[in-house]
Amino acid sequence: MTNSLDGLMPFFAMDILKRAKALEAQGRTVCHLEVGEPGAPPAARVLEAVARALPEPQGYTNAKGLNALREGLEGYYERQHGVQIDPELIVATMGSSAGFILAFHTAFQTGARIAITRPGYPAYVNTLLGLGYGVAEIPVSAGNGWRLTGAEIATAHARQPFDGLLFASPANPTGASVSREQLADIVATCARLGVTLISDEIYHGLDYAGPSVSALELTRDAIIINSFSKYFSMTGWRLGWAIIPPDLMRAVECLQQNLFLSAPALSQIAAVAAFDCEDELQANIAAYARNREILLEGLPKAGFTKFAPADGAFYLYADVRE
Ligand SMILES: Cc1ncc(COP(=O)(O)O)c(C=O)c1O
Repeated sequence: MTNSLDGLMPFFAMDILKRAKALEAQGRTVCHLEVGEPGAPPAARVLEAVARALPEPQGYTNAKGLNALREGLEGYYERQHGVQIDPELIVATMGSSAGFILAFHTAFQTGARIAITRPGYPAYVNTLLGLGYGVAEIPVSAGNGWRLTGAEIATAHARQPFDGLLFASPANPTGASVSREQLADIVATCARLGVTLISDEIYHGLDYAGPSVSALELTRDAIIINSFSKYFSMTGWRLGWAIIPPDLMRAVECLQQNLFLSAPALSQIAAVAAFDCEDELQANIAAYARNREILLEGLPKAGFTKFAPADGAFYLYADVRE
């Protein structure tokens, strides 16, 4: 018997992480370059909030997430992006990874085609194919700083139409960020073609070329996916969030209730405190920026000359073929 997951690809970064951790368990020292994890720990107040909450029984939360968390996010969007969002349109997810599942299943019919960039985050294609969706890969190039354009979306769509676009800026693995004008071009192109935009904003805050623009600043039709993993240094806490257009929200809520019940309660309590830690978070960014400078200066000296300077995130995508 075959089933639909027969062709499911591993996420190789996680396979390599497993091997690296096994080596560490044997006492070996490993320099981890496999998965995108922040070098910094979570902020002190986050840890204190968890220590305070630990003795209390922690049950399921509201399926959408704690009110305090969603109101914290409401304030965060007002400060960071100058936009008002209704906390009722926010759902706390088990990392952004679970947010994708909610988004795909509510925005698209099974078998729909979703466009992604190539190169891009490898789990996108594996997840989409594994869940029964089709994938359209839109190549982005070094010549254009690995940035996706509206024209490239339109060309790919004319070749073979797709229903959705899953797009990250800053991007994994290239570190490429689009400007407000470039994002507006992407948003307008999606609207013109009737393509649902899923904006993966997980690397927002890790910006070296000016603050990232949220798709929410330009449209209320996009699904916004984000996470406490990267900017807030909370990968293992498995907590993210999604901001959902009103017409999809009830379906997202029902799916969350049935698939996940709620995101982890302790992580949600911790995350409420994370909005109050701007100084520590900015110090982390300054350290990443210094690391980036070291690479930009050192890589050419080491013979690696072909790379984009990484506008955001903590990746540097260098051509090593020579
Ligand atoms: C572009 C992108 N999206 C989503 C994720 C998933 O992150 P999480 O599930 O920890 O929020 C990652 C992880 O590296 C990523 O690089």
